[in-house]
Order: sequence, then C-alpha cells, then structure tokens
Amino acid sequence: LKVAVLVSHTGSNSRALHEASLRDDAGFGICLVVSNNSGARALEYAREQGIPSRHMSVRTHGTPEELDAALLDELVTRGVDLVVTAGYMKKLGPRTLAAYENRIINIHPSLLPRHGGPGMYGMAVHEAVLATGDEVTGASVHHVTAEYDAGEVIARREVPVMAGDTAEGLAARVLAVEHQLLPEVVRRIAAGKG
Ligand code: GRF
Repeated sequence: LKVAVLVSHTGSNSRALHEASLRDDAGFGICLVVSNNSGARALEYAREQGIPSRHMSVRTHGTPEELDAALLDELVTRGVDLVVTAGYMKKLGPRTLAAYENRIINIHPSLLPRHGGPGMYGMAVHEAVLATGDEVTGASVHHVTAEYDAGEVIARREVPVMAGDTAEGLAARVLAVEHQLLPEVVRRIAAGKG
C-alpha cells in the first residue's frame, strides 16, 4: 500500500508511521510527504530518510483550486493508495476529496466526536478535556470529509485523565498513543481489513 502523508509541523506521527513501514511485515510504505509549510520538521525528516517530499501551498501554487489540482496530480502520478493527514492544518480541496473518497484518514487527539471541529487542534483540545472534567480522553483515526473531524471514525484508543493533569501532560500521553494507533490502522488497511 502506497501512503502519502500530509503534515504541517513536527511530524512525529509521520515519523512513527515511517518507522512502522520499515518493518518486514508492514505491508505499506511512505512514498510521499507533503507540507504546506516549507520549514516543517517533517520535510527535513523526509529528506534525511530519502522519502520524496514536496512543499505545496497557495504560496507555491497560487490559488486553492490550483493547489487542489496539483496535489491530486502528485498523488495520482505517484500511485498513492492512501492519504494520511497527521497534523495537517489545511483543508483539502474538493477534487482531492472526491478522487480519494474513503482513502484519506486523519489522526485527532481526542475521542471523537468529543472535542473535534473547527478550532479544536493542538492544546485547545486538551484544555477542553480538562475544562469539561472528562475522566477519559484519547486519540481517534477517522475518514476525512469536507468538514473538520466529522468523517466516520475508524479507530479510537483511550487515555485516562489523571488528577492534576495539565494540558501539556495530557498532550504528551495522547501523542504517545497516537504513535501506536496510526500505524496500527494503516497496517490494517494495508492488510485489507480496514
Ligand atoms: C497530533 O496531536 C495530531 O493528532 C494532531 O496534530 C498533532 C500533530 O503532531 N492532528 P505531529 O506533527 O505528528 O508531531
């Protein structure tokens, strides 16, 4: 299974996915890393690892429509089977969404449908978990649609909230779970069990 990863910043999930792909029985490989941010650590990692990588944004491609078309072209040309957005801070365009319907997945740091939607990213998610007094949070992998965090949930993993937790502490524990959950889901999809 050929996987493309879209990422905006650090890319620790992208890295976890790449490391998992190097195992003999992985059944998938990362064939492309795309970032809207030329300074993304994830692009540097891709270059170090010899993974093809592209900086693609409205700065490089002019308009959202041109970017959508160029991204889709890049995915199709490389024979990408599955698109993974992992900390990708932009919405995908309608052409890419339609062409890859049900073949785009995202990882989100909460138990969706709780604490998803516009504005719910980064520390805001974990602050909302603490503010609402949830006893459990976690990570979700879901299909990507035109609305933020609204596509069908594929897998979730729980993380308990502990007394005295800070948003930062919670974020770190959830991220560690994301690093396991995302490769597991992609392995399952590669095995035809997704
Ligand atoms: C993760 O928490 C992911 O769930 C969210 O953005 C964060 C990305 O982290 N969508 P990284 O770039 O993979 O380190």
